[in-house]
Amino acid sequence: MRIPFDEAVKLLLKGEVVAIPTETVYGLAALYNSEVGVSEIFALKNRPPENPLILHVDSFDSILQFADVLPPHFKELADRFWPGPLTLVIPIIEDKIPSAIRANLPTQAFRVPSLPLTRELIVKTGPLVAPSANLSGSPSSTSFEHVEEDFGEEFPVLEGGSLEHGVESTILIYQEKKWWIGRLGAIPGEAFAEILGYLPQVQVKEGKPLCPGQHFRHYAPKARLHLTKSIPEGSVILGFMDRSYPKGSMVIPLGVSKNPAGVLRRLYQALRRLDREEIAEAYVDIDVPVDGLWATFHERVKKAARE
Ligand code: TXA
Ligand code: MG
Repeated sequence: MRIPFDEAVKLLLKGEVVAIPTETVYGLAALYNSEVGVSEIFALKNRPPENPLILHVDSFDSILQFADVLPPHFKELADRFWPGPLTLVIPIIEDKIPSAIRANLPTQAFRVPSLPLTRELIVKTGPLVAPSANLSGSPSSTSFEHVEEDFGEEFPVLEGGSLEHGVESTILIYQEKKWWIGRLGAIPGEAFAEILGYLPQVQVKEGKPLCPGQHFRHYAPKARLHLTKSIPEGSVILGFMDRSYPKGSMVIPLGVSKNPAGVLRRLYQALRRLDREEIAEAYVDIDVPVDGLWATFHERVKKAARE
């Protein structure tokens, strides 16, 4: 159910959960210090308690109340990429942030969203935790309709129009004197090299990803997906509008093969369409580069295909 801005503020201040837009994907938001709101988020999504939440703040300065030592390059990264689709995970003063939102870790993930509506909201409510507004394991929501599909028509949603990125923020984690990529996302890893002086790597430690969430099933439609560079005749294809495919195939367009940002913007909508149209099997054209934002594309479709 679409609700106006003032109603969203009112519900959030009462400790309730509201779906809100950001420039990446919709989030399921609650006040970070509302015990009821936070546990409701985990319950609604069916999210494992060991998967921590991102804290959305209105500015860099808001973080200073939670952390007393900031890692090297934190300020430069924030100055360059905030507000925007970058999440930074840093050590915090533990008694300033409820342990339930950080899954008992001594760190917290922070992000300053760039969508003006989201920041205006946070100015009124204070810091908000918000995981992506989808059932745990399913593709994220990039529209009001997607949120309704997962949480029903009565669920309160602040509508935000079309989202700039349509894919989650990139997560950087400071650990062992370096920044690591915890999750690929809307900013390519190469974009950080100039500030850091090195290319941050996707780190997996003792078989465990740095972001607990990367461990779980994710972004997956019910359909069985095949990732391929050669598409059989007569199939359903998540493909590119500037390519031709074998005859008899049905193409669900992801945009053009020269524009990875546009492709990422359409990806979740395309995955959700498979379920809505009850398509049991589909092929994803992965004949695209592997660097830049394409790395995010490959990672998301691999997870969606449960590979
Ligand atoms: O773009 C986004 O980041 C969206 C919008 C709504 O802001 N949010 C989002 O949240 O994608 P969520 O909960 O779906 O994904 C957050 C990821 C999870 O993989 C979680 O494990 C990781 O961030 N994370 C959160 N806190 C962490 C921490 N302290 N250490 C490591 N990973 C953390
Ligand atoms: Mg998510």
